Amino acid sequence: MEHVLRTYNLTKTYKNVNAVDSLNINVGRGDIYGFLGKNGAGKTTTIKMIMGLSKVSSGEIELFGNKALDNKCYGRIGSLIDYPGFYLNLTGEENLEIHRRMIGFAGKDSIRNALEMVGLKDIQGKKVKNFSLGMKQRLGIARALLHHPEFLILDEPTNGLDPIGIKEIRELILNLNKKYEITLLISSHILSEVQLLATKIGIIHKGRLLEEISYDELQKRNRHYIQLKVDNDKKASFLLEKNLGINDYVIWEDGLIRVYEKLNEGWNINKTLVSNDVRVDEIYITVDNLEDYFIRLTGGESNA
Ligand SMILES: Nc1ncnc2c1ncn2[C@@H]1O[C@H](COP(=O)(O)OP(=O)(O)OP(=O)(O)O)[C@@H](O)[C@H]1O
Ligand SMILES: [Mg+2]
Repeated sequence: MEHVLRTYNLTKTYKNVNAVDSLNINVGRGDIYGFLGKNGAGKTTTIKMIMGLSKVSSGEIELFGNKALDNKCYGRIGSLIDYPGFYLNLTGEENLEIHRRMIGFAGKDSIRNALEMVGLKDIQGKKVKNFSLGMKQRLGIARALLHHPEFLILDEPTNGLDPIGIKEIRELILNLNKKYEITLLISSHILSEVQLLATKIGIIHKGRLLEEISYDELQKRNRHYIQLKVDNDKKASFLLEKNLGINDYVIWEDGLIRVYEKLNEGWNINKTLVSNDVRVDEIYITVDNLEDYFIRLTGGESNA
């Protein structure tokens, strides 16, 4: 598989603390890579090192199969890090024109193309001060696309957006990937946002990569179980073990039990509990979602 980005033990140390710690991530061509981590996990620091905006303490970065990171290589990457700043009294088009002249090598039609790619081509007369946050975010992405990058890095592109704005950015990302064949790395601290679009997910926690996994593998790993809501979880677990021979279960929280075996015996579980005076308020088969998985890996509630 052809890699667009690989890091080798990439490390950033601030005052003896590793904000990024021996990180090895692999982004293949065509991926939408979800770079997932809680606040302070080291996402922005990693992205800044990749873009050459922050000095690498140790380790290496390889872009497009090349460890010599020069102009030519950065010319193939677009990025949006932090909140995009614009001249509020100018239109979106005028803002992009300033940027186009600054970068020097994008043609005139690149502005119209980029606005079209992000779904902003119809609002060209509007000043940026009248843009919604979602529109500004899309304009920021348009700016990152001006020079036709093959690889686009977006640091928390949905931060602060409402659910509709989030959905629009998600559709935009999918479109850039499918229609324009752009490889993307998207950082986020909200799993549900990347889970809907990522082909691969890298989970970073306290600077370290906990796991890098393709979306398909992740789906397979999630387990089905029967969820039971009962009034007495201790008595219920006793009955599960002694009367039904069920050992693969957990008391997920007070009154909530997850049974991972004998999934077709829900009726029997229900009958046994009820006839032994355990009240069953809910019983259904479900599957662990990614959020649970993320929480389990990073140990604690997600910051979402
Ligand atoms: N310039 C700096 N000097 C010292 N420490 C820093 C600096 N920049 C970041 N850090 C620390 O490095 C760690 C990683 O920060 P980073 O901003 O990369 O996390 P993040 O995953 O992007 O978090 P967020 O979701 O909040 O954006 C944090 O503990 C942060 O306090
Ligand atoms: Mg950040």
